[in-house]
Amino acid sequence: MDQLSQIRKPIEDDLKRYLTLFEQDFTHENPLLQLALQHILKRQGKRLRPILTLLSARCFGEVGESVLHASVGLELLHTASLVHDDVVDESNMRRGQKSVNELLSSQAAVLVGDYLLAKSLQHSAKTENVNVVHSLAKVSELLSDGELLQLYALDSDKIEEEVYYKVIERKTASLFCTSAKLGAMLAGASEEQTAAMQLFGEYLGVAFQIRDDMLDYSDSTVLGKPAGNDMNEGKLTLPVIYVVNQSSDENLYQLALKVRRTEATPDEIALLVKETVDRGGLDYAAECMEQFVQKALAQLNLVPSSEYTKALRLFAGLVVQRNQ
Ligand code: IPE
Ligand code: IPE
Ligand code: MG
Ligand code: MG
Repeated sequence: MDQLSQIRKPIEDDLKRYLTLFEQDFTHENPLLQLALQHILKRQGKRLRPILTLLSARCFGEVGESVLHASVGLELLHTASLVHDDVVDESNMRRGQKSVNELLSSQAAVLVGDYLLAKSLQHSAKTENVNVVHSLAKVSELLSDGELLQLYALDSDKIEEEVYYKVIERKTASLFCTSAKLGAMLAGASEEQTAAMQLFGEYLGVAFQIRDDMLDYSDSTVLGKPAGNDMNEGKLTLPVIYVVNQSSDENLYQLALKVRRTEATPDEIALLVKETVDRGGLDYAAECMEQFVQKALAQLNLVPSSEYTKALRLFAGLVVQRNQ
């Protein structure tokens, strides 16, 4: 059994209920919308966020209707953010198939993303819990805030870890954080336990994005999106940020800025990737990621041990080891 199947095992039944609810939003009489929705439904992702919500809930109680609506709402929000992200990044692939902007157009993809976002908020309302509505609305804000901050950073001539962390906390960790928090909260966890689960999600989310950024340095085809894409988009991530700041080589810093301005040639990008790897950028990022995973795992000490906490520990391991 692969790692993800092992993680899902204790919540198989909950996931079936989740999926039934999720799929309900993917049929529509509007032909263009229907085309896009069926396309998205064909290749669903790893469902890490709903898995996190369901496991987090099971650590403390039952998976009721409100937990299901919250997990569907979160996954729809995540899906909306990917559809929009591919427009922003002008990316033509997602999950091993055409992105929505490639299949239809950027215009249609923006609107499809909006539709998914609206559906997500409807699920938050169906929980009839104002904290859930508030949390989902806040995450939506943070996702766009993070993406915009990343755009803004493209024009900066400073290459800073601090900005990198701000971006990934908002665009990625916020969803993991809320997924873990809402599961716990809705299943009756205490405030202290809910806060611990929230931190678990937050730290893991940061680690998850660091890993994602590291994967971009390898020629992986399993990711379902082009490798080496980040630098092509002008995006500088932790490995290269560390290397250019740690080295006294001014030319390297200038080269990184050129890449960020998307003025570099493919050879120059290849050189920056090579220098980053040779100078230990990936090792450094791996260490940072490991520290976040350890901080996440420490939060589980506040949660009674069960098959669900065991699955959450495996979940943390998956973040570090994943290749897709
Ligand atoms: C992709 O997230 C976006 C990032 C935060 C890097 P996932 O890797 O969880 O995407 P899917 O849902 O499995 O496709
Ligand atoms: C991830 O951003 C999407 C969001 C978190 C909104 P990226 O642009 O870094 O991720 P991929 O590589 O397209 O999945
Ligand atoms: Mg992208
Ligand atoms: Mg992006």
